[in-house]
Amino acid sequence: MATATNIIDLKDISVTFKTHDQTVAAVQDVDLTVEKGDIYGIIGYSGAGKSTLVRVINLLQKPTTGSVTVSGQDLQTLKPVELRQARKKVSMIFQHFNLMAARTVLGNVEYPLLGSRMSKADRRAKAARLLKLVGLAEYADTYPSQLSGGQKQRVAIARALASDPEVLISDEATSALDPKTTKSILNLLKRLNAELGVTIVLITHEMQVIKSICHNVAVMDAGRIIERGRVSRVFTQPQTALSRDFVETSTNVKEAIERIGSTVSIANFASNQELMYFNFVGQSTKEGVLSKLSKEFGIDVNILFANIDQIDGENVGVMIAILTGDIEGFNTAVTQWKDRGVTTQILTDANLKGGEL
Ligand SMILES: Nc1ncnc2c1ncn2[C@@H]1O[C@H](COP(=O)(O)OP(=O)(O)O)[C@@H](O)[C@H]1O
Ligand SMILES: [Mg+2]
Repeated sequence: MATATNIIDLKDISVTFKTHDQTVAAVQDVDLTVEKGDIYGIIGYSGAGKSTLVRVINLLQKPTTGSVTVSGQDLQTLKPVELRQARKKVSMIFQHFNLMAARTVLGNVEYPLLGSRMSKADRRAKAARLLKLVGLAEYADTYPSQLSGGQKQRVAIARALASDPEVLISDEATSALDPKTTKSILNLLKRLNAELGVTIVLITHEMQVIKSICHNVAVMDAGRIIERGRVSRVFTQPQTALSRDFVETSTNVKEAIERIGSTVSIANFASNQELMYFNFVGQSTKEGVLSKLSKEFGIDVNILFANIDQIDGENVGVMIAILTGDIEGFNTAVTQWKDRGVTTQILTDANLKGGEL
């Protein structure tokens, strides 16, 4: 049953493609509920089934099995004319913008309104208002070819909003953009979510993107959702190897381990030395741990890598350091730090060689 707060409710969705010589199970047994007003991320590598799954949300892709409820309506029971209305509640933006080159920027935003009953003046006024909302008011009469990638995506967002959607789906919308432009587009999506209350479903292959604006995330692999939850939880306690992989890539820990591995050999460490990986969540900070290490255990700390993030309002940090001193005393004490949000792991040459924890 869809509850009042679930704007999207997919039940037991499977999508199977049959080509002449093979059958592809693109999506398998997926349940997905998204609360109204949420920013919900779906992360997975290429081919995981993300695009197919979100195309099911507005029935652009008919599922082989399963039910699709959006805003309380079971889409598969609607008559064609009702379905056309219902589809307007779900808009999409893509990696390649899909703007019409022969139309002006204003003309592109106005386009979805052409079939509506609005007067030309009203259509144009609405398109102009949307362009202002995405920060492109003065570009109304230019053509898409005159715009940067980030500006093109803003036009696509304005166009997507023309039908007053309740859900905006972003399918790799920032994947073709540089990091700075990506950030500005993500900030725009966050603002639209806050100001218009539009629910956002955001597909990406980058944890960095999920981390910056999503509250909840589902991890997809081979057609299935293999893990889901609050972003802060998945980030700090990933339950699957794939989630862990995405997290480590986004914190640059993998890169750091590889870099350290090319300069440090643990086999050459003295008996009172260890290479240690630290993970901090919430109140505990790097500084707190460092001062404890030196004051309580007289341990010398040589930091090789550190990274701190803010996720969903929570501090999350990692650190890799060479510790020299009373390691045994430290190891006994550190098990109690776990309750305070600090976990540690002694790294070995095998970790360094594999580039993994
Ligand atoms: N129209 C189609 N016909 C046949 N196979 C398809 C079709 N669309 C997608 N697929 C296959 O379904 C799987 C999932 O694709 P897709 O949903 O695009 O994944 P993602 O968006 O995560 O990269 C892939 O193996 C892809 O090749
Ligand atoms: Mg895709």
